[in-house]
Amino acid sequence: MTAEETVRIEREGDVVTARQKGRELAQSVGFSGSELTLIATAISEIARNIVVYAQRGEISLNAVSEDHRQGIVIVATDHGPGIPDIARAMEDGFSTGKSLGLGLPGARRLMDEFDIISEIGKGTTVTMKKWRHG
Ligand SMILES: Nc1ncnc2c1ncn2[C@@H]1O[C@H](COP(=O)(O)OP(=O)(O)O)[C@@H](O)[C@H]1O
Ligand SMILES: [Mg+2]
Repeated sequence: MTAEETVRIEREGDVVTARQKGRELAQSVGFSGSELTLIATAISEIARNIVVYAQRGEISLNAVSEDHRQGIVIVATDHGPGIPDIARAMEDGFSTGKSLGLGLPGARRLMDEFDIISEIGKGTTVTMKKWRHG
């Protein structure tokens, strides 16, 4: 694993930083322009959830290489309130805030692999991977 980078997430400006750094890393891995936008969008949604629901956390960005394929792995971690019902949180349109409830399900659709672990009172970890095709 190479090119590890961690971005602290506390405010909206950090969301922009994570988005940009993720895009740069994905570009260095060789993703196409349209894929860069999808990856950056998924990172934004997950980072914004940290700011809104957990106040602070971090996002680590890594290039991954395995079985002759290259990709990017994004791990978002916070020690916020956790998600009581992950299945519901993953539904389109479910929000406990004032937004559209499309962040988590949207990010899952944009990435190849999506995993969420959350424990009430302990926090949430979202792991997302995207592989380069072709
Ligand atoms: N990091 C997090 N910590 C706690 N709750 C979260 C976190 N991320 C998401 N959630 C919960 O999951 C719901 C769905 O998230 P999302 O799909 O991004 O929609 P939205 O942000 O528009 O509400 C949120 O409303 C919130 O209740
Ligand atoms: Mg959201």
